[in-house]
Amino acid sequence: MSKKYSLTTTLVHAGRNKRVTQGAVNPVIQRASSLLFDNLAEKRQATINRAKQALFYGRRGTLTHFALQDLMCEMEGGAGCYLYPCGAAAITNSILAFVKAGEHILMSGAAYEPSQDFCHRILKKMGVETTFYDPMCGAKIADLMQPNTRVVFLETPSSLTMEVPDVPAIVQAVRAVNPDVVIMADNTWGGGILFKALDYGVDISIQAGTKYLVGHSDVMIGTAVANARCWDQLREHSYLMGQMVDADSAYTTARGIRSLAVRFKQHEESSIQIAKWLAQQPEVKAVYHPALPSCLGHEFFKRDFTGSAGLFSFELKQKLNAQQLSAFMDHFELFTMAYSWGGFESLILYNQPEDIAKIRPNIDRTLSGTLIRVHIGFEAVDELILDLRAGLDRLQSEQS
Ligand SMILES: Cc1ncc(COP(=O)(O)O)c(C=O)c1O
Repeated sequence: MSKKYSLTTTLVHAGRNKRVTQGAVNPVIQRASSLLFDNLAEKRQATINRAKQALFYGRRGTLTHFALQDLMCEMEGGAGCYLYPCGAAAITNSILAFVKAGEHILMSGAAYEPSQDFCHRILKKMGVETTFYDPMCGAKIADLMQPNTRVVFLETPSSLTMEVPDVPAIVQAVRAVNPDVVIMADNTWGGGILFKALDYGVDISIQAGTKYLVGHSDVMIGTAVANARCWDQLREHSYLMGQMVDADSAYTTARGIRSLAVRFKQHEESSIQIAKWLAQQPEVKAVYHPALPSCLGHEFFKRDFTGSAGLFSFELKQKLNAQQLSAFMDHFELFTMAYSWGGFESLILYNQPEDIAKIRPNIDRTLSGTLIRVHIGFEAVDELILDLRAGLDRLQSEQS
C-alpha cells in the first residue's frame, strides 16, 4: 500500500494485487508443481528471478504463496517470509539455517518443549551445543555468550509459565558482545502483531501459523519473517531443506489474517475478564496472564506489546491427584482438551509441577500446585466462567 495505515487497516488490504487475486478479493489458489514456460527466454527469466516471486517451480511457490508472503512481510515489517508445513519446521529450519558443527546456541529454558528437544536431540547430534537460559535474565544473557555463539532463540511469552522476557535488554546485550549473532523469536502468541519483534531488533520472527494466523484450528503452517540481513540465507537453506506448504493452506492462512486484529480484540477482552475472575477464586494460587501483574515480566508486556492473546495459565493451590484431575478435567462442557490453541474455541490442559520442572532447565523457579493452561475462545465469557467454576466445585466435592 502506498500510504502508511494502522495495523488493523493494513491487515485488511495488504498483499492484495491483481497478479495474485486476478480480480477477486482473495488470492487465487494456484496448485502447481510444474510451472510452464513457452520458450527458452521465459525459462531463463524464471530461473534468474526464482527467488523473487517468479513462477519457476512449485517448491519456490505459486501466486497463492506469494500473496501470503507479501501479507506477512507487510504485517511484520520483514524483507521476506518463508513458509513451512508447521510451526516446528519454521523453528528448526530457522535455527539450522544459521548454525554449523562446533557452534553454540542460547535457547530459552522456558520455550515450547519441542524447541528444547530439538536442541537436545538434533543439534547435539550435529555437534552444536546449547545453553538454556532463564528468559527473565535480561542483559545478563551476555554472561552466557561464548565466542562460538551463533544463534539466540527467544520465545515471548514463554510456553506454559508465560514469563515475558525483556527483549530489548536481551537484544542490546547480545549485540554488544557480538553484533553478528542471529536473534530469533517464537512470536506465535502475539500473532506477529501484538509484539513487532523485528522493530525490537530481532532478526527472525517465527510463528506457528497453525494458531492465530489461521485462527480456525484446521490448518498446519509455520512462518518465519526475516530482516534483510538474514533473508537470503534463511530462504536458500530452507529451500534446500525442501520446506514448502501447499497452496490451499497458504490460502486459508492469508484469509485468516484478514480478521486477525479483530479476533485478538475479543481474545484479549475475554481472556482478561476470565483471568481476573480466576485470580479471585479461593482454589487458585496465581494467574499467569501477561496482562496481569501476577505474571513475571508483566512490565515488559505493558511496555512492548500492544494487546493480549487468549492463552494463559493459572496455578492451583494444590497439586491434584489422579482422581481430582479426572474430576476436574473430564467434565467441562465448553472447554475441551487439545494440544493446540489459537482457534475460536476454548481449550484446557494441565501440567503437574514436576512436569514443568523437567522442561525448565537452568530456571530455579518451581511450582507447587497443578498448572492449568486455558485458551479463551469466542464463547460468552459468563458461560465460560460457569464452566470453570463447576470444574473448581468438582474439586471440592472430590476432597470431602
Ligand atoms: C509456542 C509454540 N511454538 C511452536 C509450536 C509448534 O507449532 P506446530 O504445531 O504448528 O508445529 C507450538 C505448538 O503448539 C507452540 O505452542
